[in-house]
Amino acid sequence: MNVIFLGPNGAGKGTQAKLLQEREGLPQVSTGDILRRAMADPDSPLGTTARRFINRGELVPDDVMIEIIEARLREPDTTRGFVLDGFPRTIAQARALDDLLQAAGHAVDAVVYFEARPDTIVRRLSGRRLCRAAGHIYHVEFQPPVVEGRCDIDGSELYQREDDREETVRHRLSVYRRRTEPLVDYYRSRGILETIDAEADVEEVYRALTEILAARTR
Ligand code: AP5
Repeated sequence: MNVIFLGPNGAGKGTQAKLLQEREGLPQVSTGDILRRAMADPDSPLGTTARRFINRGELVPDDVMIEIIEARLREPDTTRGFVLDGFPRTIAQARALDDLLQAAGHAVDAVVYFEARPDTIVRRLSGRRLCRAAGHIYHVEFQPPVVEGRCDIDGSELYQREDDREETVRHRLSVYRRRTEPLVDYYRSRGILETIDAEADVEEVYRALTEILAARTR
């Protein structure tokens, strides 16, 4: 199954994509994680480009992102399905994805739209922490680690993303509304958009998500 997760920053897409990967074996393709790994390598040209845009809350240019996705979807783990988490984020990226999948004889089966209120988003982003080793996601209030400041899974240090500072968060949300929100109508008009209430707790959202995906595969 080829699924796209769409929705505002901090709505919980990454959290749910990681659960789906762990529990159902559907690979998570997170463009944010790919870019952050590149940014952690001081010698990576992609990391240098990404840093310029991400730390200001801007989108990385379409041509760079499309090249990343083309390469990632050629990897063998994605041949039996994937969850795209963070791509596409513009109409140009969505069109490029359509072409890419069509050329491979595939299609997008479902687009899950995570709906959450602006105040929820700001609260989730301001308390978010990630682990250095693998990007496992925590929240100081909603999903705290067992040992403060350490990842439960690999023990690595937890850190706050540079772009989760309040000023950058506000800018990211305005970029989302202008450049990414039009994708809701783009996919709704094709009849493949499913909306999920992302306000609920993590397990409740996961239950709703798996019900939606099960209904789509019936
Ligand atoms: P990316 O990493 O994709 O950031 P994003 O879309 O802004 O999404 P987030 O990671 O902020 O949020 P999320 O919805 O995954 O929420 P999460 O699960 O972490 O991209 C980063 C940057 O890279 C972009 O700004 C852009 O510059 C660039 N980029 C990436 N892809 C690009 C593209 N295609 N084109 C151009 N540029 C691109 O959850 C948030 C917090 O809430 C966590 O702390 C979590 O523990 C908590 N939480 C989650 N669910 C719940 C719940 N149900 N209840 C309570 N707390 C919850």
